[in-house]
Amino acid sequence: MAIVRRKFDAVIVGAGGAGMRAALQLSEAGLKVAVLSKVFPTRSHTVAAQGGIAAALGNVTEDNWHWHMYDTVKGSDYLGDQDAIEFMCRQASEVVYELEHYGMPFDRLENGKIYQRPFGGQSQNFGGAQATRSCAAADRTGHAMLHTLYQRNVQANTQFFVEWMGLDLIRDEEGDVCGVTALDIETGEVMALQARATLFATGGGARIFSASTNAFINTGDGLAMSARAGVPLEDMEFWQFHPTGVYGVGVLISEAVRGEGGYLLNKDGERFMERYAPNAKDLASRDVVSRALTTEIKEGRGCGRDADYLLLKLDHLGADVIKTRLPGIREIAIKFAHADPIHDPIPVVPTAHYMMGGIPTNFYGQVVAPYKTGPEEVVQGFYAVGECACVSVHGGNRLGTNSLLDILVFGRAAGNRMIEDLKKNRHHKHLPADASDKALARLSRLNDQKDGESVAQVGDLLRKTMQTYCGVFRFPDMLKQGVEKIGEVAERAMRTEIKDKSRVFNTARVEALELENLVEVAVATMVSAEARTESRGAHARDDFPDRDDDKWLKHTLYFREGQRLDYKPVRLKPLTVESFPPKARTY
Ligand code: FUM
Repeated sequence: MAIVRRKFDAVIVGAGGAGMRAALQLSEAGLKVAVLSKVFPTRSHTVAAQGGIAAALGNVTEDNWHWHMYDTVKGSDYLGDQDAIEFMCRQASEVVYELEHYGMPFDRLENGKIYQRPFGGQSQNFGGAQATRSCAAADRTGHAMLHTLYQRNVQANTQFFVEWMGLDLIRDEEGDVCGVTALDIETGEVMALQARATLFATGGGARIFSASTNAFINTGDGLAMSARAGVPLEDMEFWQFHPTGVYGVGVLISEAVRGEGGYLLNKDGERFMERYAPNAKDLASRDVVSRALTTEIKEGRGCGRDADYLLLKLDHLGADVIKTRLPGIREIAIKFAHADPIHDPIPVVPTAHYMMGGIPTNFYGQVVAPYKTGPEEVVQGFYAVGECACVSVHGGNRLGTNSLLDILVFGRAAGNRMIEDLKKNRHHKHLPADASDKALARLSRLNDQKDGESVAQVGDLLRKTMQTYCGVFRFPDMLKQGVEKIGEVAERAMRTEIKDKSRVFNTARVEALELENLVEVAVATMVSAEARTESRGAHARDDFPDRDDDKWLKHTLYFREGQRLDYKPVRLKPLTVESFPPKARTY
């Protein structure tokens, strides 16, 4: 069926920090750039990032990029690719100063330099004293960053398609990518956006879990579109559970609270992190802290009637520090936990927060997948950055505030690479005649389905299944059953019906499409997790409690077709420095 087509030099799906940083590079180079976003750009999930951007500026404690690199490799539990990690940490100061010059309103130290605070897993001198590395705008760093990038993009004439949802990646008969099909959420119109370069910056998919810090929009759309188009997904078993989501609600309470000196307590008033991480204590890496909280609850030392949360205490910081450095946290705690942290501790639990896995890319944002002639090749015309991508700089566990760094460094690098590639690829590739068929077929099925399943009910079941069978600790029987159960959910999701077709702005249709995407992400996660028989980073198995470098120092690749798994080795060799060989990881 013929649909409207529009041509751009580059199409970017997603208007969070990664998409907007890449768009800025392209628009400032004079290219015609379309950015699609399901929500108004400044409501993208980057807006919720709180604590900071990691960069070894050394404004508070002595610091350098090499120490940052070491911490990131260790934090990743040695699954991160060391060349990509070096690439990121070396560029950190530059991208932060660049942002400062764009007008980002960072907090300031007395001497006028950018304010920095300590975060988990940051050390001086390769594992020594705590470093202070996270550059912050109070506890609203993502908010400040997203607005700064949006304003620059408006100035650079980036064209935003607001409330548009990407539906499918368009590949031609050779497998090259030539654009996307997309839905105008307001009108229901489907359009093909043809581009010489297509970038996915669609964010994560932690909405597959019922307790999640993620926005409702984080439904793994880019991952699902890639998987449907035959691109494998990398390291999908690695999901970060942030130690401090508000109990019962999931809203994030930034690690900045612990960076500023707050700490966790169990029901006995014990500062229990001292037992789990004697040196770093509450500022151990997130996987370690989340496991500690879960263990405290499991062993009966949780708080409250059901002994199922811990307390985050910060009243000792004083009202001034809380009001200036953590104003957003105070607001969240009052609104969602009915606790004013100036006086009361905040009830918290580990909450799904971030996906370390994603669409496999190199550090120029080019998607790397089995393709024309070999198993590892750059897919022509296709790029991915940010949480939906797997570079892999975070490996098995991401350090706090490395995510905003990741989106700046790789957003810019992808933008630069696309500019270079566009100089060579001057002509649009022909869109295949059936470019929009799959997307239209999915929409017709949703429109025509009678007596189908409720999207909300199947969505709830999906989230509960993931939470129960694939959480902080993973058990062999549960993983096995989880694969079956999520398969059943996937089948039911194919029979969903839009119950209320009259709802304004097609929101019911969008929710149904999002559920299909969540299913792709959930199945990939469960299948990948069941197969990795070791514990590494955030993947903690009860039956295989240790890391197994002999067998598992490798990345998982999940292929949707046949739910097949393959593996590729971790790149241990950095670009210019010596490798950090895997060793026991303690904090
Ligand atoms: O705790 C936080 O502020 C979250 C930061 C991050 O995920 O990097």
